[in-house]
Amino acid sequence: MASNVSELTTYMAYLNGEWKKSSSGETIAIQSPYLRETIGYVQAVTQDEVDEAITAAHAAQKDWAELTLSERGAYLDQWADELVKNNEEIAKAVMQEVGKGFKDAQKEVVRTADLIRYTVQEALHMHGESLKGDGFPGGDQKKIGIVERAPLGVVLAIAPFNYPVNLAASKIAPALMTGNAVIFKPATQGSISGIKMIEALDKTGLPKGLLSLTTGRGSVIGDYLVEHKGISMISFTGGSATGRHLSKQTAMIPLVLELGGKDPALVCDDADMDVAVKSIINGAFSYSGQRCTAIKRVLVNEKVADELVSRLKAEIEKLTVGSPETDSTIVPLIDDKSADFVQGLIDDALAKKATLVIGNERKKNLIYPTLLDNVSEDMDIAWIEPFGPVLPVIRVKSDEEAIEIANKSEFGLQASIFSQDIDRALAVARQVEAGTVQINGRTERGPDHFPFLGVKSSGMGVQGIHHSLLSMSRERVTVLNLK
Ligand code: G3H
Repeated sequence: MASNVSELTTYMAYLNGEWKKSSSGETIAIQSPYLRETIGYVQAVTQDEVDEAITAAHAAQKDWAELTLSERGAYLDQWADELVKNNEEIAKAVMQEVGKGFKDAQKEVVRTADLIRYTVQEALHMHGESLKGDGFPGGDQKKIGIVERAPLGVVLAIAPFNYPVNLAASKIAPALMTGNAVIFKPATQGSISGIKMIEALDKTGLPKGLLSLTTGRGSVIGDYLVEHKGISMISFTGGSATGRHLSKQTAMIPLVLELGGKDPALVCDDADMDVAVKSIINGAFSYSGQRCTAIKRVLVNEKVADELVSRLKAEIEKLTVGSPETDSTIVPLIDDKSADFVQGLIDDALAKKATLVIGNERKKNLIYPTLLDNVSEDMDIAWIEPFGPVLPVIRVKSDEEAIEIANKSEFGLQASIFSQDIDRALAVARQVEAGTVQINGRTERGPDHFPFLGVKSSGMGVQGIHHSLLSMSRERVTVLNLK
């Protein structure tokens, strides 16, 4: 697909139901990671505009919460339809802005529509409960508790660059469905994709002010949004350092954080090598490893390490490297700084005598897929999340040693275990500190109705459609005291 950046668009912010220029008079240039040029400009929203958006959100939320679930769901279903209708245009924005392969970007849009529709259905089928007072010793039979769910108010949804559409909608849809208003802050690189998806939402005739999209500089509106007294709940996906900062900035409001990972693949000596190789390659290298759930280290039993490494090498040789426009697996990283960071990790490992199996080539921000063997615990790559296409292999003597190294990490998002003995795999899985452990499969968030969570530095709270609906609403208890 040919890119067309000859006419650059200046995109508006979506504030109080209007597409507007910011009163700051400033815009932010959005750089394409692979075209290496500006592809458009977004508004640098001011703190005053944030205030106005939050005031409007509170006003709109009251009427919105009064609508029936089906009425709210009808807007969201229409949003899903609009996303599918406009999927080529939105996918093109994702591709150009964050360098994701076009087909994967289209899959992201379609997955998002499915997620929205499922969110509507899930909310329609969630019921409260009623409790009888005499269920507790000495309790009164005439006391009946009715437990319903109520919205929290205004949800701040902060999305990352790597899934600018899907990880925005996975916050916006449950927030709206549970009767909240939303302030949506996309990642700067991800803003155009965010604007496109909100254009689709705007077409549904969503009430004015119910959702505002605040593009802007983190230094101006980042902390301001997070600390704002008008924000009732924050759902954030991004790096662990930002997540930790954010959790210190907020006080007494619910937070859901989906952060970084250093997901290990534990390969036992009885693993089905075909399955392990395929899952590790796909898990580590798709979208150049720019996924929080990417496989970011391999802990392999030394008895099968030579075979695994040589088969991984053979598969890496087949990976396509180049442009997202031709759906290459390995694409330029989001920016030069990220590529420098990944290169620094490779350099450190090689200086400390890791074995370079393949890779360590670079063209600007394009890092070729790199496999490092004989990685030891003194190397940064053993512990630090690269968010790039470099995979360290650590050889271990036993399952116990693999578990120990897996758990030494500050992260605990997911892990994969490869073994043909289900009892053994399950025993290992239960000892690994991670939100989710995949047996004989790659680490990944979906399907989107599964609970998704990280432990330790990988997050706080639980996502996944059902849990997001719960975290964006609260119990409302009414007690009938009958005569
Ligand atoms: O980057 C973080 C995402 O939640 C990963 O999602 O496993 O579907 O790629 P994914």
